[in-house]
Amino acid sequence: MKYKNNKLIIDRINVDFLAKKFSTPIYCYSFNKLKKNILHFKKSFQKINPLICFSVKSNSNLQILREIKKFDFGADVVSGGELMKAIKAGINPKKIVFSGVGKTSSEIEYAINKKILLINAESKNEILEIEKIANLKKKNVNIGIRLNPNTDAKTISQISTGKKENKFGVDEKKFLKLIDYIKKSRYLDLRCLSVHIGSQILSHKPYEKMLKAVNRVIEKSNHNFEYVDLGGGMGIDYMHNNKRLNLKKYALSIIKILKRNNSKIIFEPGRSIIGNTAILITQVIYVKEGHKKDFVILDAAMNDFMRPALYNAEHKIIPSKKRNGFSKKTYEFVGPICESTDKFATIKKFKKLIEKDFIVICDVGAYGTSLSSNYNVRPKPLEIMVKGSKIQIINKKQKLSELM
Ligand code: LLP
Repeated sequence: MKYKNNKLIIDRINVDFLAKKFSTPIYCYSFNKLKKNILHFKKSFQKINPLICFSVKSNSNLQILREIKKFDFGADVVSGGELMKAIKAGINPKKIVFSGVGKTSSEIEYAINKKILLINAESKNEILEIEKIANLKKKNVNIGIRLNPNTDAKTISQISTGKKENKFGVDEKKFLKLIDYIKKSRYLDLRCLSVHIGSQILSHKPYEKMLKAVNRVIEKSNHNFEYVDLGGGMGIDYMHNNKRLNLKKYALSIIKILKRNNSKIIFEPGRSIIGNTAILITQVIYVKEGHKKDFVILDAAMNDFMRPALYNAEHKIIPSKKRNGFSKKTYEFVGPICESTDKFATIKKFKKLIEKDFIVICDVGAYGTSLSSNYNVRPKPLEIMVKGSKIQIINKKQKLSELM
């Protein structure tokens, strides 16, 4: 994305052109950026030669899953629905891992029928349920156990998952006991140790702590894990000030800390693959004078893009064309929904805007559409993908009639 003659261009296409051709709000993805992220991820971990399972919760658009699959990716899913979508996108079930603390019996049965690579179990009761279904079907099932390494990911608390007070995984003691139990089971095969400490992690240090905990458990267990699934969580540079996780440093830590006796490493990245590939193009409906600031009221709202309302997440906002001069007052960018958290950002110095202008919310590719809803009976927006100078519709805007 860059400005050419003060007009914002994505790949080779003018953002105002897109906004006028289709109706806003529009999620617009760049294929080039997606490809670049995938190649960068693969290159950073080249020495480890991992299986990379894209985390479908971050973006479950079928067309995007199909593109990602072409780069030999598998999928990390957390529901029967995500599993169905990953399979529909053509992802090989032998490259699909299923995580989550509350898998239902029918989801487990579906995963077993589809012969996926691993069900990563998160509790003893879940293991008992998988075993019950495996016994009934007389089928061997490959499972992993998720370790809770009691590690602080040093990220937003709502997306931190690896501390002992979090609901995820089991602690070291329980983990070791479960290994003994599974060893005696007729149909369960323990293939994997899995772990995931949180999301939007910007330093390799929490990962180092996590790796030490993983290594300790592997050594104590005396079990040969075919896979070590290190989850996702790699953070991206939302504020565009070069603060992102250094993947190469992380790769070095893995090599240094994990004495993994030939286990295959699995990663489950979501955000680092898809986060910065998309923008949300939205139109200014009104500029409303407020007390100390002006409200820029947009046609996108918290139902379209939830991260700021849910986590106070920060996203850059930029104009689609730069006018001369700046706003007199601070701008507060808000949506039309009747909630005070329906707000995207407050920006002190912004290029002057007038009604009907278009603006862009950046880096909305991960947990953008996947967290969107129909709150206020608002249809979900159009999704398009730009490939060089071509535009592809990858999800139609919902019709109001579909919501009746
Ligand atoms: N694996 C597991 C087991 C996970 O729970 C997650 C994310 C991932 C992989 C992918 O993490 P990533 O590479 O995308 O960081 N809605 C929040 C993020 C929630 C993350 C949940 N788990 C947000 O918008 O920031």
